[in-house]
Amino acid sequence: MMSKLEDTEIKSWFGRESVVEHYAEAAVDIGLWASEELVLQRVFAPTDTLLEVGCGAGRICLGLWELGYRGIIGTDFSRAMIQQARRIAAKLDYSVPLRVADARKLAFEEEIFDGVIFGFNGLMQIPGRADRRGALVELRRVVRRGGRLVFTTHDRAAGSPAGFWAEETQRWETGEQDPRLHEFGDRIVTSDHGPIYIHIPDRDEVVDDLRATGWTLREDAMRSEICRESEAVEAFSVDCRFWVAEKTD
Ligand SMILES: C[S@@+](CC[C@H](N)C(=O)[O-])C[C@H]1O[C@@H](n2cnc3c(N)ncnc32)[C@H](O)[C@@H]1O
Repeated sequence: MMSKLEDTEIKSWFGRESVVEHYAEAAVDIGLWASEELVLQRVFAPTDTLLEVGCGAGRICLGLWELGYRGIIGTDFSRAMIQQARRIAAKLDYSVPLRVADARKLAFEEEIFDGVIFGFNGLMQIPGRADRRGALVELRRVVRRGGRLVFTTHDRAAGSPAGFWAEETQRWETGEQDPRLHEFGDRIVTSDHGPIYIHIPDRDEVVDDLRATGWTLREDAMRSEICRESEAVEAFSVDCRFWVAEKTD
């Protein structure tokens, strides 16, 4: 029987040369999306201490540094991504600390950050709802009371081929789903760099996960509702939902 997809396969995919190169190009040529710039600047002050998890080649943390955010640290569980992010930071002469770290188990003290960021749907590349919730608990642990979490996810109601989820529901009901998937909502999608896992939640699922992990939801909106993106951004990434949550107690 085919076994369930392991997170080690995802980690190794994010270590592939062509994948790292793809994210490096985005860090250099695309930078922050207009929506990210708007949301992150509204939620965080340049003086805040910020942790970015799943930073890839540094597209977001280097973009924030450029905007004057001097308290940001970038982390990713892919060593190759961090090495690439360091190369780009060195070239730009940006002193952003960049470390290898898994979002589910962070070597940081409790409550030391004003905010955390898990951009570009990275949270949804953690297979298994329990593990995604584990990451949300861990992010909450390192943020002070009143601190915020900003992340994005795909949304099952937007962007998938018409009828896909109705057919997928039937496949799960009859046990004919891809045996490597963990849960309904999981997909293994084709990309230029080979197949990759992503979980596509509906809004209620994320609302439940935030509540279950102690976060208070402050706002959420689809990227397309926030602002119009450039053609380059639209070609790099499809529409997604932005989430802002607060640690209120
Ligand atoms: C879609 S990429 C986004 C990269 C970057 N934030 C950007 O926007 O260009 C998702 C990133 O999350 C990282 N990632 C996935 N699971 C992770 C985990 N459990 N802990 C830390 N990083 C993780 C991947 O290595 C990858 O770099």
